[in-house]
Amino acid sequence: MSLRLDWGKLGFKYMPTKCHIRSTWRGGRWSRPELSKKDELTLSIAATCLHYGQACFEGLKAFKDKDGRIRIFRPGENLKRMNSTADFLHCPRIPEDLYFDALMKVVRENADYVPPYGTGGSLYIRPLLIGSGPTIGVSPSEEYTLLILVIPVGPYYKGGMKGVKSVILDGHDRTAPMGTGHVKVAGNYAAGLHPSIKAKKMGFPIVLYLDSKTRKYIDEFGTSNFIAVDRKGAYVTPDSSTILPSITNKSLITIAKDMGVKVERRPVRLAELSKFVEVGACGTAVVITPVETIKYNDREWHFPNSDKGLLKSLHDRLVGIQFGEVEDKFGWLMDCPVKKRP
Ligand code: PLP
Ligand code: COI
Repeated sequence: MSLRLDWGKLGFKYMPTKCHIRSTWRGGRWSRPELSKKDELTLSIAATCLHYGQACFEGLKAFKDKDGRIRIFRPGENLKRMNSTADFLHCPRIPEDLYFDALMKVVRENADYVPPYGTGGSLYIRPLLIGSGPTIGVSPSEEYTLLILVIPVGPYYKGGMKGVKSVILDGHDRTAPMGTGHVKVAGNYAAGLHPSIKAKKMGFPIVLYLDSKTRKYIDEFGTSNFIAVDRKGAYVTPDSSTILPSITNKSLITIAKDMGVKVERRPVRLAELSKFVEVGACGTAVVITPVETIKYNDREWHFPNSDKGLLKSLHDRLVGIQFGEVEDKFGWLMDCPVKKRP
């Protein structure tokens, strides 16, 4: 089947695809993952995900290379992070064999939705784990649903590699010290909705958060990690217990070190913004999106991100690996073989 999608114009929007996959946990056991063509869920009105936010999720991508092969980028890293979020929210862990089996099946079934090589698009994979059983006193659910849905996507921010404007808002924190910032819980994103809408109305597509304890250090963006290049050419990224450990950032650090670039993962003071020549947002959805300005009250910092800069080289090398144009020397891609139809 060839789908009539305008692959080159995909943004980051939900659309129904052929199917998703689902498994239920009850009494200590996971059911066999089953594919479902209906993109709806029937849920108890007292499910803990609805009332008490027992919801964890992940984001990863599958890519088509020039020979049409489908490969998934570092899926094991997402499982590790999903299980650390599950531990935090008192959800059951997802067994490795169940996860990989479900992941391969759902991607294979939706092979026609993986954007063709050369369009720049990819298949975004969203695993979701929720407390789906009824509990009205505040306690963990006795039933859980794992589902994995997929959608074809293009750039998260309009303009892609052109750069976005960012703002730091007083009066809004994303997470608390010793709170939920280091795990991927749905509630973190609910807390970011109001500031994100406020920022967009002011003309800033992306919010940068400071550490909520002292407001002197940079934490991360609402959708992604903060990365920067200083005047000496070092790759600088915050070390903070309240940010999400990004798999993209981890990969970029590996690539940067491999290129002989000095990497500094350390607390980054807000005042250091004036020392950076490049700033970017990195994550699965945003890849590396250059940040051209950051505004904070009456101050504004500008970053002359250029096509010849380090962030562009890192971006090209990462994306090159993902689309099979550059050797996968770190072994990050997992093949997802699809049987050819007769
Ligand atoms: N930080 C936040 C708040 C995110 O939502 C994401 C996206 O998942 C990231 C960072 C980047 O993480 P990753 O590179 O694993 O997608
Ligand atoms: C991702 O990059 O996978 C995320 O979950 C970020 C989200 C804002 C789309």
